[in-house]
Amino acid sequence: MKTPPRQLAHNDAATGAMPDPQFFIMTFGCQMNEADSSLMASLLERAGWREADSSDAADLIILNTCSVRERPEHKVYSTLGELRAWKLSNPHALLAVAGCMAQRAGEEIRRRAPHVDIVLGTRWFHRIHELVDRVRSGDRPIVCLGMEGDPSTARRPDALGVAAAPLRAFVPIIRGCSNFCSYCIVPFVRGPEVSRPPDDIVREVKSLLQRGTREVTLLGQNVLAYGRDLADKPTFAGLLRTLDPIPDLWRIRFTTCHPRDVTSHLISAMAELPTVCEHIHLPIQAGEDKLLEDMRRGYTAAEYLAIVEQLRGRVPGLALTTDIMVGFPGETEEQFEESLRLYTRIEFDAAFTFAYSPRPGTEAEKRPDEIPRQTRLERLQRLIDLQNHITIARNGRGVGEEAEVLVDGPAARGDGLLAGRARNNKQVIFPGDPALAGSLLRVTLTEAHLWGFRSDPLSG
Ligand code: 5AD
Ligand code: SF4
Repeated sequence: MKTPPRQLAHNDAATGAMPDPQFFIMTFGCQMNEADSSLMASLLERAGWREADSSDAADLIILNTCSVRERPEHKVYSTLGELRAWKLSNPHALLAVAGCMAQRAGEEIRRRAPHVDIVLGTRWFHRIHELVDRVRSGDRPIVCLGMEGDPSTARRPDALGVAAAPLRAFVPIIRGCSNFCSYCIVPFVRGPEVSRPPDDIVREVKSLLQRGTREVTLLGQNVLAYGRDLADKPTFAGLLRTLDPIPDLWRIRFTTCHPRDVTSHLISAMAELPTVCEHIHLPIQAGEDKLLEDMRRGYTAAEYLAIVEQLRGRVPGLALTTDIMVGFPGETEEQFEESLRLYTRIEFDAAFTFAYSPRPGTEAEKRPDEIPRQTRLERLQRLIDLQNHITIARNGRGVGEEAEVLVDGPAARGDGLLAGRARNNKQVIFPGDPALAGSLLRVTLTEAHLWGFRSDPLSG
């Protein structure tokens, strides 16, 4: 462990000891960003830093950013504005902007917010501790945006410390995306697909299990593309089969999946492997063929439907969730309604819904037929209303069934209730002893809600 440089440490008058410098990470966006933040946190902790309870107490603040829509980018600039006062009152403190927006906007961030010390692109998370050291020894500011595809970012150092691991942990298995859907900025800011070698993933999973994890979610912009870029072409279904027998691994989840890459091997693995949970997140984006073509999604509505039928046929109790975007350029009222009809027919268990947001440099952004914002927002509301109705109806059909719940701990709403997740990833709340946290419990689902279920534990 390195000794923290003097200028950052606050002198502790009572003991004369130099407390560890503290960092605070604000994460925007998706689960991959959460995983990248936890990687940076582990690396900083190994280098002698400690996580601060609040941004005020920090010697280093990192904003880990998202670029997928315009709004989270505005939020980053407004947060940077708010942090100007913090920076003024802590002249030795450091401010870093990392991740997708850092990659996209680069030097522009420093032009608009000159108090930023480090701009760190999406292939540089694993170097955070070194870059911070460099800036502290006078080398400032630093902008790292190279996309050379350094595979060590994809790989992650194994073990990542000896601290207790969460009951449910996220493990990135593939980074980047090579799909270039016409609206999406991800391939530009995260670069092409880079998979971690299977051994590396197995090692990290075993390390997490030793430290208390029982459920692992395999992460990637498209986990089903796993292995295509590696020399011996391991597959995602193969990876599931490798992980399934590892002792103490109770549950495997994965997200997110491109429908075009669903194979019979994947469906068989989901049907056969006891640890693989009955849930798939399969972004549909639109439900009409011309829109899907313009989005460059690579499937038709009928093909998507056929995949869903195969999945539901082979995996009993499967929950199907999705991402849907409305107001893509040129989307007519008829196309939107046709999409709604398809969603009504499919009946997703839940959907993340978005209004199209033009992203610089994408193919869709250059189209002249942008849908007025007001229309996009109205369609979004109609979609949300429909999906809420479907979610309630589907959950309603689950009432009276039994479910296996992995207990997270006390529910946020208190009242002596515990919260956990069923295998299909739906939230379940029930009365119980907090000592049950971390265990598997059988319950009967008694009440359906939009957010999940109330339930009663089964005795014995
Ligand atoms: N505008 C709105 N939503 C978008 N998404 C991706 N790009 C855009 C965009 N330009 C949505 C997609 C994707 C999810 C992560 O974000 O639905 O699946
Ligand atoms: Fe974006 Fe399409 Fe890649 Fe998903 S599959 S990250 S929507 S380009």
